[in-house]
Amino acid sequence: MRILTFTLWLTIAMGLSVSAGDETKPTYLDESKPLDERVDDALSRLTLEEKIGLLHAQSKFSSRGVQRLGIPELWATDGPHGVRPEVLWDEWNQAGWTNDSCVAFPALTCLAATWNPEMAALYGKSIGEEARYREKDILLGPGVNIYRTPLNGRNFEYMGEDPYLSATMVVPYIKGVQSNGVATCVKHYALNNQELNRHTTNAIVDDRTLYEIYLPAFKAAVTEGGTWSIMGSYNLYKDQHACHNQYLLNDILKNEWGFDGVVVSDWGGAHDTRQSITNGLDLEFGSWTNGLTEGRKNAYDSYYLAVPYIKLIESGEVSTTELDDKVRRVLKLIFRTAMKRDKPFGSLCSESHYEAARKIGNDGIVLLRNENDVLPINLDNGKKNILVVGENAIKMMTVGGGSSSLKVQHEISPLDGIRAFAGNKADVNFARGYVGDISGNFDGVTSGQNLADDRSADELISEAVEKAKKADYVIFVGGLNKSAHQDCEDSDRAGLELPYAQDAVIEALAKANKNLIVVNVSGNAVAMPWVKEVPAILQAWYLGSEAGNSIADVVFGATNPSGKLPFTFPMRLQDVGAHSAGEYPGTKRNDADIWDEHYNEGILVGYRWFDKKGVKPLFAFGHGLSYTKFDYGKLTADRKSMTADETITFTIPVTNSGSKAGAEVVQLYISDPKCSVMRPEKELKGFAKVYLQPGETKNVTFTIDKDALSYFDAESHKWVAEPGQFKAHAAAASDNVKSTATFELK
Ligand code: BGC
Repeated sequence: MRILTFTLWLTIAMGLSVSAGDETKPTYLDESKPLDERVDDALSRLTLEEKIGLLHAQSKFSSRGVQRLGIPELWATDGPHGVRPEVLWDEWNQAGWTNDSCVAFPALTCLAATWNPEMAALYGKSIGEEARYREKDILLGPGVNIYRTPLNGRNFEYMGEDPYLSATMVVPYIKGVQSNGVATCVKHYALNNQELNRHTTNAIVDDRTLYEIYLPAFKAAVTEGGTWSIMGSYNLYKDQHACHNQYLLNDILKNEWGFDGVVVSDWGGAHDTRQSITNGLDLEFGSWTNGLTEGRKNAYDSYYLAVPYIKLIESGEVSTTELDDKVRRVLKLIFRTAMKRDKPFGSLCSESHYEAARKIGNDGIVLLRNENDVLPINLDNGKKNILVVGENAIKMMTVGGGSSSLKVQHEISPLDGIRAFAGNKADVNFARGYVGDISGNFDGVTSGQNLADDRSADELISEAVEKAKKADYVIFVGGLNKSAHQDCEDSDRAGLELPYAQDAVIEALAKANKNLIVVNVSGNAVAMPWVKEVPAILQAWYLGSEAGNSIADVVFGATNPSGKLPFTFPMRLQDVGAHSAGEYPGTKRNDADIWDEHYNEGILVGYRWFDKKGVKPLFAFGHGLSYTKFDYGKLTADRKSMTADETITFTIPVTNSGSKAGAEVVQLYISDPKCSVMRPEKELKGFAKVYLQPGETKNVTFTIDKDALSYFDAESHKWVAEPGQFKAHAAAASDNVKSTATFELK
């Protein structure tokens, strides 16, 4: 009896407290409730206008919440290398804030070149903290479009040519960012592989190629990274713009992969109300901005998913089925980010972010060539005379390149980094060598540098050569920059060659001084006709705020380089699949402003093409040297055969046989020599970065399952692993296989 009374009392008390709580806190505000319940509750309270209000922008970078219900706005920002400075409500021009400078992290090509998922996690966490401190809800990045041609102006914002590498690297980046309560917006989904005609190119790709090459990184971002949003790309696929594309968005992203987040249009990527409604777009941004340049004021009511959508609903021409699904997704995104109470506050320009930027930069620089051990420069055996040559030694690289342009708190130039590191152990002189692009302005952010130099090319070369003759070492810092037709959004490069006649400068320097080091700053492969005349070459990417420090760390040996190329450096453009067999840049239709582009090279992208055609690259995918030496033992498998339900583990001992501590990226490639369909010679299916002291040996292991053996069969729409013999190769680069093991799939 007493127990009963107590239970009754408890029930009443609980009931009262719950109903009292209900009155003060509606379900949608109650973070202890499941997300879907909160979404349902919020949805039930919204008017049609409020629902529509959630689906499109209200300014360049924000969308409306629901003021009446205390549901906050969403604020987005670029991405992916640092947090973009504030622009005006309706304009691309700067808002003129003084508290929006950031740390620039190395470009994503550099991150990919680390082959180190720990660096991707650090990157994501750090940039997520910066975004969070700036009170952003969505970071527009990272980018994972596959590197198909070295001409693509935006390759620097992506993670290279291999689907496995980019899929592996994108996941920790996403988790790091989202741990701050900031959503990643993985871009540009999908097939945005060039900037030329980016709004009008219709990518024609077979399903096998789509699934094997162009989708895996996006799929990993969704199914493993759990990204809360994704950005549609500008191009078309199957004649529909990717931002409202039945195949890419509904069939694949939402249905096959079960994506429960928000599809955001790229800025100006939506073109049609009905398609936006039915073909998977959820949140429309930037219409009529044509990406970067144009602007139209206060047009937000005319957005495809604004008043035109309301009109179609009110006239009964479309139902509210899609509407509620879109609203649900956007509400969920708001709850996950802007409306999440329990999240860190973030930090901006903190020491740890500079440290992270430098660490990632150091980890991603690739030593392409090092004859006679010219590098590292030893500062401890007598005072050195070092000559630094080249515009990229002094030019700020964080301003420009398009939407990823930044306003940094500071950026250490290569020259300053080299000078600071050398201190009084070297005389460091500078010669300009060439004049490239002296502009330094993006949307009102200026570099503040005056790089004007009126001297002729001959005068500049003579000066550099005279100084080079007297130097112990010459460090040429050149490459591309972030201006149009270089590494820059909205245009492609004109060719593979270095611009501004840099080849002539390098050739002259090579004749003047045998200790020439070329530091190539770029996000793309460049031609190097002088490669054999230059003993040491570093691929230094765009390294962000700490650029000069990272380069100096590697040049002087404080860091032993361990980056490997995330894409192939071809000798000639014609050696690349997209240019040899593919149809770059597409063919214009007679009756429409659409460029059909057949991806005829199919799955043979990057090293897959070079391998199959037996073409020798300048530097292969996966290539990268070290100041120490690594010896590989024999690759062994833990079993001779496996079934489709089993895994197989490969082990290879790797020894540091040199005299410096260092790290090696050990790569595992799989081949299926006999198969009913064409297979690449080999495909990357595992990698590990292993740190070794001099003399130390470690066993590196890789475990794979049938996924690593499969190809995509378009007809059955399934991944197929055909029984038979396979080969596993442990390699130091895609053109440097060290040991092979054979095994069987039963
Ligand atoms: C770019 C996106 C970017 C957006 C917003 C577009 O031009 O393609 O990558 O996030 O602008 O700046």
